[in-house]
Amino acid sequence: MSEAGMKARPGGPLRGRVRAPGDKSISHRSMILGALASGVTEIEGLLEGDDVLATAGAMRAFGAQVESLGGGRWRVTGAGGFSEPADVIDCGNAGTGVRLIMGAAAGFTLAATFTGDRSLRGRPMNRVLKPLGQMGASWICREGGRLPLTLRGGGLTAMSYRLPEPSAQVKSAVLLAGLNAAGVTEVIEPEPTRDHTERMLRAFGARVDVADEADGRHVRLAGGQPLTGTRIVVPGDPSSAAFPLVAAIITPGSEVTVEGVLLNPLRTGLFETLREMGADLTIENAREEGGEQVGDVVARHSALKGVAVPPERAPSMIDEYPILAVAAAYAEGPTVMRGIGELRVKESDRIAMMAQGLAACGVGVEEEPEGLIVVGAARANHAVRGGGLVRTHGDHRIAMSHLILGLGADEAVAVDEPGMIATSFPGFGALMAGLGADIV
Ligand code: S3P
Repeated sequence: MSEAGMKARPGGPLRGRVRAPGDKSISHRSMILGALASGVTEIEGLLEGDDVLATAGAMRAFGAQVESLGGGRWRVTGAGGFSEPADVIDCGNAGTGVRLIMGAAAGFTLAATFTGDRSLRGRPMNRVLKPLGQMGASWICREGGRLPLTLRGGGLTAMSYRLPEPSAQVKSAVLLAGLNAAGVTEVIEPEPTRDHTERMLRAFGARVDVADEADGRHVRLAGGQPLTGTRIVVPGDPSSAAFPLVAAIITPGSEVTVEGVLLNPLRTGLFETLREMGADLTIENAREEGGEQVGDVVARHSALKGVAVPPERAPSMIDEYPILAVAAAYAEGPTVMRGIGELRVKESDRIAMMAQGLAACGVGVEEEPEGLIVVGAARANHAVRGGGLVRTHGDHRIAMSHLILGLGADEAVAVDEPGMIATSFPGFGALMAGLGADIV
C-alpha cells in the first residue's frame, strides 16, 4: 500500500473465496471483558487492526496480561478488575475502544487519562460521560466532552438509562460500568442495537436479562457479578465483508464468496437492503459459532435499482451506509437514506464525505442534515464516471468505499490517507487484489 495514496482502476470480473477479518466490535469486547475477568481468555480470529491493538495496549495498562500467540490467536489473563494505569491511554482512532474502556474503568477506584488521534479527539464523549456521571464517575475534559480527558471512577450506583441516541457503544459503556455499581443497572433502547456486549457478558458467566417492552428493549445487569475467563471465537466482520461483496455486485461477471461472516440480525441491514435493490446475495453453510450466527456470503454481479432504506434499519447497518452509497451509484434511480444523522459523528462526517467523494466521481448526490440521496447512473448502461481524487479525512470506511467505487467506473478513483484502512481491515489491498481487483 503506497503512503502517498491508493488508486482503484476499473477492470475485469472479481472471482474467488476469501475470509473477512475478525469482527471489530467483538474483538474490542473480547479484549476488554478478558481483562476484566479472572483467569485466562483465549481468543481466536481477533481482528489485528490498529483499533483493536490500541485496546490491547490499553488492557495491559489497566493491569491485564495480553499476549499474541500468532495467527489471530491471543491470550488475555485478567486480574479480575482494572488497576490504575501509570500513563495516558492512547486509543488511536477507536471510538468503540475508548467509550467501552471508559465505561469499564468507571467502575474502579482509579484515575485514567484517555486520548486518541485527531479524529477521535474531535468526537463527542458526552454521550458516555453523561450516564457515567449520573452513576457517580467524574472527569475533566476539553470543551464539548472531547479528549484528552481524565476520568475518575469508583463508588458507582446503578441506574436506569434510556438511550437518547441508538448507540451500542453507549449501551455497552453503561453496562460495563454497571458491572461494578451497587444495584441493578438498566439500559432502555428504543431501537435495538448490536448486542455483542450482552452476549459476551453471558459467555463470561454474568447474568444479563433482556426484555422487549412497549417503550423499547430493556437490558438489565446486577452489579458485583464476577466474570471468568473463557474462549472466544471471533467471526468475520460483516462491515468489512461488505467491501468485496459490493465490489462483486457492481463489477460485471463477478462471483465472490466471503466465508465465516457474522450474521447477527442486528448487523445484517446492508445485506437486506442490497437484496431489496436486486442484488444476487446468498448465504451458504449457515451455522452457529461461539454463540453467534455465521455463514458464507456469496455475491454475484447484479442489476440494481434504487430503494428507500427504512430509517429504523439504520442501527443494523450504521457503518455500511458509505458502501451502500457506492452500490447506489451503480443502481437505476435514487436510493434514499434518511434517519442517519449519527453518521456525522463517526470517524469523519460520513454524510459529507460520501457526498463530496461521490460528486467528485460524477455521481448525483443530495445531502440532507440527516440523510443522503444517491442518484444511480445505471440507466441505459450509463456507468459511473469515476476519476476523482477523494479526500477521506482519515476515515477507513470512506477510503475503502471509494476504492470499490473505482472498480466499476470509467476512470480510476484515488484516495488519500490509505494507511487508515489498517484500523479495521489490514490487508484490504492484498485481499482485493487476490480477487482480481486492480487496487494499488
Ligand atoms: C459499535 C457501535 C457503532 C458502530 C461502531 C462499532 C460497537 O457505534 O458505528 O463502528 O462496537 O458498539 P455507535 O454505538 O456510536 O452507533
